[in-house]
Amino acid sequence: MRVMVIGSGGREHALTYAVAKSPRVDEVLCVPGNAGTASIGQNIEVKAADPDGLAVLARQRGVDLTIVGPEAPLCAGIVDRFEAEGLRVFGPSKAAARIEGDKAYAKRLMKLAHVPTAEGRVFERYKNARDYVATRDTGVVVKAAGLAAGKGVSVCEDPADGLLALERIMVDRVFGDAGDTVVVEELLKGQELSVFALVEGCTIYVLETVQDHKPIGDGDTGPNTGGMGAYSPAPIATPDMMAVVERDILVPIVDAMRNDDAPYHGLLYVGLMLTAAGPKVLEFNCRFGDPETQPILMRLQSDLIDLLEAVVDGRLADAEVHWSPRPAVCVVMASEGYPGKYESGKVIEGLDHVAAMKDVYVFHAGTRRIENVTVTSGGRVLGVTALGDDIADAKRRAYEAVEAIHFQNAYYRRDIADKAIPTDG
Ligand SMILES: Nc1ncnc2c1ncn2[C@@H]1O[C@H](COP(=O)(O)OP(=O)(O)OP(=O)(O)O)[C@@H](O)[C@H]1O
Ligand SMILES: [Mg+2]
Repeated sequence: MRVMVIGSGGREHALTYAVAKSPRVDEVLCVPGNAGTASIGQNIEVKAADPDGLAVLARQRGVDLTIVGPEAPLCAGIVDRFEAEGLRVFGPSKAAARIEGDKAYAKRLMKLAHVPTAEGRVFERYKNARDYVATRDTGVVVKAAGLAAGKGVSVCEDPADGLLALERIMVDRVFGDAGDTVVVEELLKGQELSVFALVEGCTIYVLETVQDHKPIGDGDTGPNTGGMGAYSPAPIATPDMMAVVERDILVPIVDAMRNDDAPYHGLLYVGLMLTAAGPKVLEFNCRFGDPETQPILMRLQSDLIDLLEAVVDGRLADAEVHWSPRPAVCVVMASEGYPGKYESGKVIEGLDHVAAMKDVYVFHAGTRRIENVTVTSGGRVLGVTALGDDIADAKRRAYEAVEAIHFQNAYYRRDIADKAIPTDG
């Protein structure tokens, strides 16, 4: 079987890693891939945002299944394009991908389906949004409704900052058309949790639990990033909590999408805030998350291809999934300055040494090969992931590996998974 993985980040390296483990897979094409995927698949330089070029490539190379990593091609309709050509592809249709690509649509659907989420309003006119925020005396969150590569959200403890965020989005238009519509919502408090569910029509299978770390600094301080590390399972996600998430969030939203002629097929990501009043939805994404995918796929014992094909072929209800009971921790190594300005092109050392470590895998994100050396080429560079006998053991192994990897201006948080490690107090 020949599989194509679209994208170039840590998520795509993790998907390629899991796919390449399948005894049914002969070849993995990574488009465009990175220095990590090149070691287990074949990288091909075609842009992820070029549905036509990708469809031609899939046909020419006789690809049996395509897995789409990032949201942009999904929201651009790559799945519809592939299916129109009879090419098998894992991911939601353009209409269903709006659940991520249009936060205003998602907000309306949540209201319709009575899904618990932050109180909020949608605005298309700057003046109305400004007048609304001016009436608020507590924190607000201002979100560009369209795709903004994870940078479109401003969390404002002070409503005055909300006015500045509105001006940047709707007047200065820093996110272009993505800011034509905004969502303004109440600022929620609590721990965040990511829930991954495979969805096929009305069949829902929830994957193992996982928690990300969005802020750049230890103790969840500083600006938000794309994610600085994750661990699985997440003890905070008790079976009772997960039952509530499935009953009050997943089932209603999947039904609402089907009733809106946008049945969901693919991986549905729910970003939750665990508030005192229970879990509330911050957002939905229409793809695997990054870095959450890395520890989750390291724990998956079943064949990922069987699972994704069960979604594509409408057989999810019969799928059996096995997970390692051992926890996994992923620590992201980033370039100093991220999520702001940073330098690239730094030589990475220690990867061979770490490759020999047991139960450790280094998922590449922003890396590329230049004349036999691997150099940094992004804000987030590596996702160093380890399995352990318990979460403390997995954390210890991950940091042992992190400390054996060197590149100039490397930055990483020191407290990934601490939330799940019981203190002796
Ligand atoms: N209502 C809210 N209250 C408090 N914090 C919030 C709220 N909405 C969003 N946030 C914070 O902002 C972050 C990003 O928001 P959101 O997930 O909606 O945007 P995104 O840009 O689509 O993120 P991603 O890149 O993960 O898809 C959240 O992870 C959370 O930390
Ligand atoms: Mg999102």
